[in-house]
Amino acid sequence: MVRIAQKRQRKLITSALPYANGDLHIGGIRSTYLPADVYARYCRLKGCDVVFACATDEHGTPIEMNAAKEKMEPEKFVEKYHERQEKDFQALGVSFDVFHHTHSDESRELSELFYERAEKRGCTFLKEVELTFCSSCKRFLPDRYVKGACPHCKAEDQYGDGCEKCGKVYSPKDLLKPECAICGKQPTSRKVEHVFFKLSAFRKELEDFLQAQSLQKDVVHYVQNWLKDLKEWDITRDGPYFGIPIPGRKNQFFYVWFDAPIGYVAATKKWCSENNENLEDWWNEKSEIIHFIGKDIVYHHYLFWPAMLHAAGYALPKAIPTRGYLNVEGQKMSKSRGTFVLLKEVLGEVAPDVLRYYMTSITPADTTDGNFAWKDFQAKTNNELIGAYGNLVFRVLSFIERKAGGVVPRPGKYSDQDKAFEKKLEGIWNVGEKLDAIRVKEAQEELFAHASEANKYFNDRAPWKLKNQEELDTVLYLSAKAVYSLALALYPFLPFSSVEVFRQLGVPAPGKWADLSGFKPGLKVSAKPLFPRMEDELVEKQVRKLSN
Ligand code: MSP
Ligand code: ZN
Repeated sequence: MVRIAQKRQRKLITSALPYANGDLHIGGIRSTYLPADVYARYCRLKGCDVVFACATDEHGTPIEMNAAKEKMEPEKFVEKYHERQEKDFQALGVSFDVFHHTHSDESRELSELFYERAEKRGCTFLKEVELTFCSSCKRFLPDRYVKGACPHCKAEDQYGDGCEKCGKVYSPKDLLKPECAICGKQPTSRKVEHVFFKLSAFRKELEDFLQAQSLQKDVVHYVQNWLKDLKEWDITRDGPYFGIPIPGRKNQFFYVWFDAPIGYVAATKKWCSENNENLEDWWNEKSEIIHFIGKDIVYHHYLFWPAMLHAAGYALPKAIPTRGYLNVEGQKMSKSRGTFVLLKEVLGEVAPDVLRYYMTSITPADTTDGNFAWKDFQAKTNNELIGAYGNLVFRVLSFIERKAGGVVPRPGKYSDQDKAFEKKLEGIWNVGEKLDAIRVKEAQEELFAHASEANKYFNDRAPWKLKNQEELDTVLYLSAKAVYSLALALYPFLPFSSVEVFRQLGVPAPGKWADLSGFKPGLKVSAKPLFPRMEDELVEKQVRKLSN
């Protein structure tokens, strides 16, 4: 028989690019970075070729304004937050293959290329626009330099680029009762020529794109409503602006949301150049391109971005897993209310896997919002993470250490109960179906149900009561096999603990999904509790901090 070597599936996984505008908060972790990391780790275990790409999103007015507040050049400012975010991601175990910058050569070159291709295909046009201009500041007032009421829902105190209340996007000149955000004066207006992207030219393509079975149904459902009313998209911002100059236009720059998603391609290109690969081999129809995002940026990812990709002749994403917002103690995350929780604050108190377990447990595969609450966090940590998994590992391994000379025994005869348990244990790998479908929370629940089964088996078989050596050996062997299987299957979710369990079992870090060849009698074990219990003191302290 002739065997044809099967090319490994390529997965290009991205998570939304965090603004280099502050430290990471737990909201983005829940919706975007953790689900992407679990999936990327799973795909690697399965033997796919994975590039997990991200970058900091470094352009635009809010960053410029905050850099000015910190009295820094924008270049220095974004570099500072890039480095801080990179450290925070590492601390949580987010396993990017590349974490690049949008203020980079790759981003500039690709943005120019996307623009030139769109222009050549007639997907851009010039139009004179009347923009808000502050005569006392002598400058155009982009997005965030104008405040006023939303033209759709009339919510007060909204920025010029979109409404935080109703989620609609618009341009600053549409605002009701506008004010200059620098000096507070009422702005005037001035005419200027801008480059627009012809979004409406892609109605048919977008309709087809939204038919894809692999897209998230609940999101497609409301995106389809927007299709009826596609607005032409102004991709121009007038200087001063921290961004990428538009080729051939004087003192005009790409709007940050034009170059931001191109940052996915740029980060991939950066990875390719560092790994002797070609971008064309990665960003194409045969790879699976998957963008993880939060629900506030659906418009950009389900409409603008696919249209831009079409215009530039680049492959479209296969899936765009989209998750909801995170509230904290039942309230919207907000700096002014004191409910804005930074990733580093939580990681100062608990181990990364403890946070990973909880975050996944409150993040279903849809756009419903979640609630981060310390009491709930404590209950899930102590009852589930430790109760079902941590305790199982410690009970089994410490029993082997104390009563079996610290060595996984060779199994003897199997009872019916042993056989049934081993069979169930083999079913653990069915969880791959949920992971393939990017249903991360359900997958974690399924694995924890297996952990509970294993606990039950250990209790029922009660090795401390067994007098028959052969019977005892079988029970300890199977219990250790359960520990090994769980640690392997849980590696995408709880990577630090899985590595620790493998260390306690005296085997190298996990290799391949469902591959138990590293597990055998004779392994020397050393037991140590995986996680400390979460104490009331910590919880009370944190709750107090958040309700001040
Ligand atoms: N820079 C843009 C994304 C550009 S992608 C080409 C952006 N950055 S962000 O820093 O504001 O958000 C990063 C990710 O976190 C996004 O996926 C966003 O949807 C998500 N979230 C931001 N705040 C969030 C919550 N409060 N809750 C859940 N997810 C949140 O958007
Ligand atoms: Zn002004």
